[in-house]
Amino acid sequence: MQKLVIEGGTPLFGEIITQGAKNAVLPVLAACVLCEGKVTLRNCPCISDRYASARILSALGAKVTADGTHLSADCSVLSSDDICSSLMKTMRSSIIFMGALLGRTGKCTLCYPGGCDLGPRPIDMHISAMRKMGAVISDEYGVISCTAPEGLKGCRHSLSFPSVGATENIMLAAVTAEGETVISNAAREPEICCLGDFLRACGAKISGDGGGRIAIEGVKKLTPPPEPFEIIPDRIAAATYLSCAACAGGELLIRDCAPAHLEAVIPVFEQMGCRLRVFGSNIYIYKKGRLKAADTIRTMVYPGFPTDAQAILMAPLCTAEGTTVFVENIFENRYRHADAMCRMGADIRAEGKVAVVTGVPRLYGTATAAPDLRGGAALVCAALGAAGTTEISGVSYIDRGYEEIERVLAAAGAKISRITEEKQ
Ligand code: UD1
Repeated sequence: MQKLVIEGGTPLFGEIITQGAKNAVLPVLAACVLCEGKVTLRNCPCISDRYASARILSALGAKVTADGTHLSADCSVLSSDDICSSLMKTMRSSIIFMGALLGRTGKCTLCYPGGCDLGPRPIDMHISAMRKMGAVISDEYGVISCTAPEGLKGCRHSLSFPSVGATENIMLAAVTAEGETVISNAAREPEICCLGDFLRACGAKISGDGGGRIAIEGVKKLTPPPEPFEIIPDRIAAATYLSCAACAGGELLIRDCAPAHLEAVIPVFEQMGCRLRVFGSNIYIYKKGRLKAADTIRTMVYPGFPTDAQAILMAPLCTAEGTTVFVENIFENRYRHADAMCRMGADIRAEGKVAVVTGVPRLYGTATAAPDLRGGAALVCAALGAAGTTEISGVSYIDRGYEEIERVLAAAGAKISRITEEKQ
């Protein structure tokens, strides 16, 4: 079992280069299934969810090779359209292979995906969209068998909620379907645009991604982009390192982070009293003295405040002067980090969608566990500003989305290390 051991109270200084986006690389890897040939990707983050996607591709028969953040996937020949439950359960994004496999082979067998426990995470919108496009889907004891005997047909989808995953799955299914597909009330996240850019580079005809209406005209087949395709920067990782600076103090330059994707997050750091400057694709943050509470933070779909940054921004607000109210509108159970923060001395009352955070002068280090990916990252932020030593177990959650978080933070002066303990 691995733990992060963090001795808080040391300000951070230096530069951090933003990793590639987890939520962009995963759908792009699934999209490789649609490409008959070798795709080369750049800026793929070295995180365990990326390795899980690569394992799925390999199990389907693709040839995957990687060198650090460069990856190539050759899906010229696929030998399987089944994804076993152990691979499906590694992450939520495994479900995105449904649309890609249906598009490429006209069938697939998989099961319900895993991922962080944030409350119920149904896949009803994914399934009903695939059915609408002509797939026959059966669900027997959790094994989902899908076939599209006559191929997928383009159609109009009006999403009841702009689900990121459902939008991606429909895009993947639609690019080689017969005729036109229109997605209204589509998700607008930057990761959707990254997937759109990738698919267009492969020859797909897509317009409107980044807006609420995406139109896709099916093409016969996709071919690999002529140039290596670059994954966008991870806006949530960038927000996490800004939060580390807000908790620990000091000054950091977060490089290559696409500040335009952080427009809902940057003002919250400013309200807290951090000094921020945006230079091109970089953000400089300087924090000294006690933070101030922020206006009510309501999580929303993009371009609103991201649910993935909710826990991460709660960490600095635990020690801000005054009270900040959070309203979580996307997931039903996304305050599991609050208990751990309270054990560090925070004053958080969470009930239903709302958490009321009343700033205390200090947090104190303790032994704690990451409840999920972003909750775990938030505990790292909190520990950097806490008095004494914090031990965080459940590091595998954090590794799902962050490239060697301890190396990145130690390079900026944090006292952080990873230890491996024998299982009792
Ligand atoms: C993606 C992100 C995740 C982020 C989330 C919301 C990836 C790999 N993950 O997750 O980091 O927190 O968007 O920005 O990109 N829903 C249904 N039925 C469905 C699908 C979704 O009810 O079929 C609900 C979910 O339970 C949730 C809401 O819609 O309440 C948003 O989910 P969705 O946008 O689909 O999130 P994910 O794609 O799972």
